[in-house]
Amino acid sequence: MTATFPSTRLRRTRTTGWSRALHRENHLLPSDLIWPLFVTEGQGVEEPIPTLPGVSRWSVDVIGRRARAAADLGIPCVALFPNTQPDRRSENGAEALNSDNLMCRAIREIRAVCGDDIGVLTDVALDPYTSHGQDGLIDEAGYVLNDATVEVLVGQALNQAAAGADIIAPSDMMDGRVGTIRKALEANGHVNVQIMSYAAKYASAFYGPFRDAVGSRGLLKGDKKTYQMDPANAEEALREVAMDLSEGADSVMVKPGLPYLDIVRAVKDRFEVPVFAYHVSGEYAMIEAAVAAGIGEREPLVMETLLAFKRAGCSGILTYHADFAARVLNG
Ligand code: PBG
Repeated sequence: MTATFPSTRLRRTRTTGWSRALHRENHLLPSDLIWPLFVTEGQGVEEPIPTLPGVSRWSVDVIGRRARAAADLGIPCVALFPNTQPDRRSENGAEALNSDNLMCRAIREIRAVCGDDIGVLTDVALDPYTSHGQDGLIDEAGYVLNDATVEVLVGQALNQAAAGADIIAPSDMMDGRVGTIRKALEANGHVNVQIMSYAAKYASAFYGPFRDAVGSRGLLKGDKKTYQMDPANAEEALREVAMDLSEGADSVMVKPGLPYLDIVRAVKDRFEVPVFAYHVSGEYAMIEAAVAAGIGEREPLVMETLLAFKRAGCSGILTYHADFAARVLNG
């Protein structure tokens, strides 16, 4: 490029609103958003989550209406997370295999209310079901066992697919789980059930409010660093993505979001596949805390944040701000 001043003035195209619109490179649409929803027991329940201001847990009987509202806003998919009752949590997370667990009932309720108007993404990992809050089975020392956990995750994924899940999203970071789950889905006739793997998921400090939401924060001893990735690593994220794609992932996810946009861009450039990012609970809560403290206004903060994901190369964004952003975008 040989542009020189003053023949080239980059401010020229920024002079007016119409010109800025004409030259805008990236756009955020409601169809870019996946809305996470927390499910809890009871009837007619809306239970606010103090560390996630503005986000609630919903009982199964009202979750269909949430999904209906999302579909009406043009949001194409919801992601479900259960707050399992304490007496249904166990050492081996067996509740994950119960065809009548909260997750399965919520899937069926959304399908009953919305039909195929919205996709249902379900998280595969044992943390909402274990009494120790880890994502898998542990040995005496508390180490999360890989291969034994994968066996249970396959059962969990089949349970969700049988209930009607559209996208299985393994968030556990066990090695080999995508291929094993894909094989089992094929063998059981779920050939069109997608896998969106949490491929590059980091052991992050930004998950705290989520753990409150699913009720695992108080249970978790230690951390998840023997399976979730080291925040210092980028090359390793590309290896994780390569593995999951070779095992049959339809799309991949990077998580958390904003602090890891370099990973999103690197994955997009290297693999040219659909990449999603999870704008996680701590990131959401930080924006809400900033708004509450008068540091900024919600709308411009949220819209700039979500647009950054598009610029980085995301096909879509999992965000607790999905309904807010979709309402803004719909005027
Ligand atoms: C569970 C899971 C977590 C999140 C999504 N699935 C928490 C964790 O790994 O501890 C975090 C989402 C968020 O913080 O919004 N495997």
